[in-house]
Amino acid sequence: MKRGSSRSAVEPVRVVPVRSGHVDTYAALRAGSEANPFLIDALSHLPMGGSRALDIGAGPLNDTRLLLGAGLSVDAVDHDPLVARLAGEIGDRRLDFIQADIRDFNIARGAYALIVAIHALPFLERDDVFRLVPRLVDGLAHDGILCCTMFGPEDGWAACRPRMTFLSRSSVEALFRPLEPLSITETRYDGVTANSRAKHWHVMRCIFRRRATVSCP
Ligand SMILES: C[S@@+](CC[C@H](N)C(=O)[O-])C[C@H]1O[C@@H](n2cnc3c(N)ncnc32)[C@H](O)[C@@H]1O
Repeated sequence: MKRGSSRSAVEPVRVVPVRSGHVDTYAALRAGSEANPFLIDALSHLPMGGSRALDIGAGPLNDTRLLLGAGLSVDAVDHDPLVARLAGEIGDRRLDFIQADIRDFNIARGAYALIVAIHALPFLERDDVFRLVPRLVDGLAHDGILCCTMFGPEDGWAACRPRMTFLSRSSVEALFRPLEPLSITETRYDGVTANSRAKHWHVMRCIFRRRATVSCP
């Protein structure tokens, strides 16, 4: 049996009001919005009994609130001090917010049924992404799910943000090769940024599963 196999299995999220002078961080711009919809798909693949999630680059905690509503306990990591305030306002004992750089955060081996890294990895430099992803893989329990986004080379920021990471689909597949891909949805569209600037997006929404260990007969 799988957890959260339909939207109705997920309790409604609480909207957290923003009372802050941090007007230009992503968390400030998006606090109180809906969770990322493809996280619902990821939840439908959770292993039976899985109860602990990690949300890295958690930002406005919209996804974290969805996970709490689905009955998970959540470790949420972000370096933005506003996120610490938002976590305090949620006031849920199952939420452990860690204000830290996600490159330094110690990820316990096999600890998580679900790791969420939505719109987080592209904001790291390439070497950091290639160092962090194997640690995320290691942090998954057997049959654990990794739900992440990556930006592709046609993204509007690719030419002007050299400290971010943009990967082709084949590079994404190679980077996450230790995991079983459940879905990789690649989209290109004209949209806007969190602060309403026009931007061309090239995004891969990925759901992977850590394969169960194969035992030799
Ligand atoms: C674009 S936001 C996405 C937030 C959230 N995952 C979502 O999809 O709503 C990226 C978040 O990652 C955080 N972040 C970026 N680089 C980070 C780093 N090196 N360490 C910790 N947090 C980081 C930012 O503060 C921001 O909140």
